[in-house]
This record gives sequence, C-alpha cells and structure tokens, in this order.
Amino acid sequence: TKSKLNKGDRQAELDILATKVSKCTRCPELAETRTQTVFGVGNPRAKIMFIGEAPGADEDKQGEPFVGRAGKLLDKIIEACQLKRSDIYIANILRCRPPGNRNPSDLEASNCRGFLDAQIEIVDPDYIVCWGSVAAKNLLHSDLPIGKMRGDFYEYGRAKVVCTYHPSYLLRNPSAKKNVWEDMIYLFADMGIDLKT
Ligand code: URA
Repeated sequence: TKSKLNKGDRQAELDILATKVSKCTRCPELAETRTQTVFGVGNPRAKIMFIGEAPGADEDKQGEPFVGRAGKLLDKIIEACQLKRSDIYIANILRCRPPGNRNPSDLEASNCRGFLDAQIEIVDPDYIVCWGSVAAKNLLHSDLPIGKMRGDFYEYGRAKVVCTYHPSYLLRNPSAKKNVWEDMIYLFADMGIDLKT
C-alpha cells in the first residue's frame, strides 16, 4: 500500500507531471496541431475523478478540460450532485486535441496512458466516472457499449468505476439525461449519500 500524500505534496507532484505533459511529443500529429496540452484540473485529493475523452477546440484554447458546451452541461450535473467543480478532479484519456475532434487512436491513448495513470495514482480517488465510451473502453479495456456498462461498479486499482454517457451525447440526446442521473444516484448511494432527497 502506498503512503498517503498530503494535499500540498499531491499538488506538487501534479505540477511536475503537468510540466512533463506540456513538453510531450510522443504523438507527433497532436504535438504539431495542439495550441497547448490540457492536463487536468481540480482537487488533488478528490474522492471522485472524472475521465473524459480528449480536449476539444475550447479546451485546446483555454488549457482546461470540459470548458466548452459539454463542459457547461457537466457543470450542471456536478451542481445537481451538490458538489462544486473544485471538489472533483477532471482529466481526459488524451491531453491533446485530436484534429477536427476525431476519436483518439489506440496508439495515442496508449501514449497518454502513463500520464493518466500517474494522475490517478497521485489523486488516489475512491471513485472514477468514465464519461462516454472512449473513456470506458480505454480505462477498462472493455468493448461493451456504454448502455451495457452502466449500472455496475468496475475496479481500477483501488477505485470503483462507474461508466455513463458523455455530456456531448446528452447534448444530442437529452432524453438520456435521466439515465445519467440514475448513474449519479447509484454512485452517490455507494458513498452513503442519497441524491433523491
Ligand atoms: N469532451 C471531453 O471528453 N473532454 C473535454 O475535456 C471536453 C470535451
């Protein structure tokens, strides 16, 4: 078992990692086309970590995950869970924007995996939410569609993992919001928190 780091130490480790990420050129196309890397943000000792897919145009400009339209919806979900964005740690499978927002390739995802795993190890969350199939497939090496992965806990190291629809999918399919809300109720119930009241 690894020793628990205090908040300042965790932030310092994340800062060192972010500096490494900012210089990364493992994916030549992404390193060439990005405005900047998008490392991750949030509470270095968050109990819940969110994992998305990859930066989009807004994230590439601002250097922060989930700040565009999908991010605004994610903020509403966080608020509905009676949390603040700063309570959570937010990262993506990729730290660079794929050109035209294409899906990450398997090679790109594996190139970036060490950074994600290091973030998970430093933050050491109790729960991870995989937002969308790219996050779920890459983290858990599963080929099931999200609809089949929902409603169960998976394990990733010490963390319990919940998979749900990506906020971008919810923008196109608002009727799936109720499913995501069910998934949040399920996660929070495991922490002893009843979101329904
Ligand atoms: N979509 C993602 O998956 N991640 C982001 O950071 C923004 C949009």
